[in-house]
Amino acid sequence: MNRRDLFRLLGGSALVGVTGCSGTSPERRLVASSGQEPGDVGIEPDVELELTAEPGEVPILPGAPTHVWRFSGRVLRGPDGTLEDLPGSYLGPVMRLRRGQRVRVRLVNRIGEESIVHWHGLDVPADADGHPRLAIGHGESYIYDFQIANRAGTYWYHPHPHGRTGPQVYAGLAGLLLVSDDDEAALGLPSGESEILCVLQDRQFDADNQLMYAADMGTQVNGFLGDRLLVNGRFGATRDVDRGWYRVRLLNGSNARLYRLAWSDGRPMTIIGGDGGLLERPIERRELTLAPGQRADTLIDLTATAGGVEVHLDSLAFPEADAGGAMMGMNPSLPNGAPLRALTLRVGDRPGMAFAVPARLPSFDPSWSASAGSRIRTVPLSFQRMQWMLDGRTFSMTDAAAEERVTAGSTHAWEFANQSGGMGMGMGGDAAHPIHIHGRQFRILGRTGGRGNQLRAGIVDDGWQDTTLVLPGETVRVQVTFSSHPGDFLYHCHILEHEDMGMMRNFRIIPS
Ligand code: C2O
Ligand code: CU
Ligand code: CU
Repeated sequence: MNRRDLFRLLGGSALVGVTGCSGTSPERRLVASSGQEPGDVGIEPDVELELTAEPGEVPILPGAPTHVWRFSGRVLRGPDGTLEDLPGSYLGPVMRLRRGQRVRVRLVNRIGEESIVHWHGLDVPADADGHPRLAIGHGESYIYDFQIANRAGTYWYHPHPHGRTGPQVYAGLAGLLLVSDDDEAALGLPSGESEILCVLQDRQFDADNQLMYAADMGTQVNGFLGDRLLVNGRFGATRDVDRGWYRVRLLNGSNARLYRLAWSDGRPMTIIGGDGGLLERPIERRELTLAPGQRADTLIDLTATAGGVEVHLDSLAFPEADAGGAMMGMNPSLPNGAPLRALTLRVGDRPGMAFAVPARLPSFDPSWSASAGSRIRTVPLSFQRMQWMLDGRTFSMTDAAAEERVTAGSTHAWEFANQSGGMGMGMGGDAAHPIHIHGRQFRILGRTGGRGNQLRAGIVDDGWQDTTLVLPGETVRVQVTFSSHPGDFLYHCHILEHEDMGMMRNFRIIPS
């Protein structure tokens, strides 16, 4: 097993078949409870959306358009600007929501296989979280009802059916979900034309511009890597900018690729937020490690940059082994650690937005403190018999072990211990795993162990996170206060091939 067996992900003719039978499927209407108090059920939502997952075609490379699956959206109720289409992109519409809004989404599945949508980073009721047990078939729909409880931040949505999340996200099913609130608005951050959304995804194409994917065991073990970096679904993304401040909001929406991001002129990145919204104070880093599922909110000051200059957002080279060698001999055409150019900012002569970075970001949640003495649960990340595991187990749709049962609203320390090596001959056991917990955002209490790794300098452990990268040999300890919503939620590796293989478990929130 020493090569990737690539296949075309979506065939043109198959899509016709899928679309053709959509009219004949009975429409099943599934209603998720609102998660509010019983008396509140029936309260009109502030925002009502329809989101359809369906086949489509987009121009990505010169020549033939690429068959994709994409989300298209419609606002049935809600403020103007709730949905923003990214022109020419396969990505779903950007959802702009406000903290406190009651949201109803009707998901319609027209992709010809089971799917369900998860709101990554949001604290929502269990039946609105997109657990794979809730997957709906082609022609069916699912109603989500939830209230935006999260702080302002950069969240996202993507499918979560068991075993098929990797191919479905790769086919194009993903979108940003931006939450705003008064605290954030008070900062007057660069917005409108001065806000740059940047979803990083790597893809591989065949000679006809169609998406290639691989499902052989070796690729699943390593995670699928494409050989072209797309930003918002476009290759070679360039943006004309003024000489002013910009807010650059980043999402690593890739299946398995790690990025070591830096500005090409060596200026530090000003990082103001992560997965769960704004940090306590801005930090400056020469480089930023962004793992699959993670977000970063950054600022760049182009005020003093001369017109005509190009500033690039690059992913710097790092040793492939720092991302974990896993299985040798798979030879992806562009391994993890290969340098990549993400985005080019072409600076013009016009003055742009003025801004001054405050020393403190006032919307930081002051209520958090490390609760000393709480019992620590260790969750080994391991590889056995060609299978990635969480705490020695793989996913079961309905199972939650004793240590995976928590009381609603209770605070726990979990540590993820990445057990490197052990298999010999480079066969597995050694990978960096971005571990994601559904529902509430968590805090990093500490990071220990591991070996010299070039990705470490760019890891940001400040602020609220829902996904943390655990490098080979490292142990990362997090403190999480679980949601008050009872039911089964997921924690898993956000390398989507690892997730699909079963490096995922339920945790069960028991009503207090
Ligand atoms: Cu972004 Cu459970 O996933
Ligand atoms: Cu999630
Ligand atoms: Cu993993």
